[in-house]
Amino acid sequence: MPAKYEQQTSKSKEFHYRARKVLPAGVSYFIRFFEPYPFYVNWAQGSKLKDVDGNEYTDFWMGHYTHILGHSPQNVIAAVSEQIQHGTHYGVSHELEVMLAEKIVTMVPCADMVRFCNSGTESSMYAVRLARSFTGKNGIVKFEGGWHGGYDPLHKAVKPPFEMSASSGLVDEALKDTIIVPYNDLNGVIRKTDDHEIAAILIEPVLGAGGCIPANREFLKGLREFCDDRQILLIFDEIITGFRLAPGGGQEYYGVIPDIAIFGKILGGGFPIGAVTGKREIMERMDPMLFERPSFSFQGGTFTGNPTSLVAGLEVLKSLEDGQIIHDLNRRGERLRKDLQEVFSSSTIDVNVTNAGSLFCTHFTAEPVNDVHAVFRADRRRLLDYHLKLIEKGIFFLPTHSGALSTVHSEEELQHLLVESEKYVKSLKS
Ligand SMILES: Cc1ncc(COP(=O)(O)O)c(C=O)c1O
Repeated sequence: MPAKYEQQTSKSKEFHYRARKVLPAGVSYFIRFFEPYPFYVNWAQGSKLKDVDGNEYTDFWMGHYTHILGHSPQNVIAAVSEQIQHGTHYGVSHELEVMLAEKIVTMVPCADMVRFCNSGTESSMYAVRLARSFTGKNGIVKFEGGWHGGYDPLHKAVKPPFEMSASSGLVDEALKDTIIVPYNDLNGVIRKTDDHEIAAILIEPVLGAGGCIPANREFLKGLREFCDDRQILLIFDEIITGFRLAPGGGQEYYGVIPDIAIFGKILGGGFPIGAVTGKREIMERMDPMLFERPSFSFQGGTFTGNPTSLVAGLEVLKSLEDGQIIHDLNRRGERLRKDLQEVFSSSTIDVNVTNAGSLFCTHFTAEPVNDVHAVFRADRRRLLDYHLKLIEKGIFFLPTHSGALSTVHSEEELQHLLVESEKYVKSLKS
């Protein structure tokens, strides 16, 4: 990072020294670290983040793609402020659980029933368990580059090189029933799953952390047919795509309905949440009145159905359910992709900008980007450099990650991104 960043962020630097003593890498999640040190934030509103040195950034990371209505939207803040007067965490059944579950059921095609949990990781964990419980089989198919959170059986083949374990502490026993298959390649899926007993295929309709790669519609349709033929459950991880690509998520956008879908991020309106949804006959496995041990599938936890998250999520879904906002954001996302692509095309630098609705990612490569291998063959050092230079100009992408548009991004802010991107490519030429 050039010296300018360090001049602008002296208080963040001090914080980082303190942070490193008490937080590994000085952060709460390693992806939030970047060289020489991340800035530390103390304010977020609308499209903006402010750091402890008073620098302001237009935020395209948006809380891990959570804030589709921007940071701290008024309707959410009002509903949460009202709710906490009545209780922060009940730990017993309450109205909001029913209200939000009903809302999800009306919006999401595959959802006959819902169970809430606290994070995307938890929802993927419970979805895998539920699929195994329902089918009586163990095999779980996941895609190269797919990220479903840190649950052991799914913490595999996230980033190349895939032969290397994604983390120490993962034991073979946890991973032995996980089958890795290539994204956007139905023949590859069929080939690699031929001699396995499979409970479910788990897929992100858009590879999110894997580089913002949309699934090919025909591929998803083929996958649905393959699952039906082989009596395999199809699970959509809609933790990024849910309530973003369409009111009913990736399944509505692509017209392919899974058996189970998991949600997080946008659903919590800026507060922690996860949800498992699916067809009634599958979801009922979690009802101990209908399925006693050993066929019962456990899900639960202290903070499940936390009213603060639920009331925030309900407000956000009310804003999104008629589809207007999402439609408009998708249109703007597509236009931004084209504009960015044009900026880069006017230079000698090879760039491919991928997008799906309001999500977009820049890849410094000439080749089409259809899977995570292409993402990692691209020039990642240049992408890092580009994002770090944008930070100096007050535009924040979590370095090397995709961006997300929210309703609060103004046309001026998008223009600023285009102008600074153009300056960046020009600086490379000279
Ligand atoms: C597609 C997808 N699934 C699952 C997760 C895990 O969610 P969480 O970080 O809330 O545990 C993420 C998080 O980024 C994600 O992008």
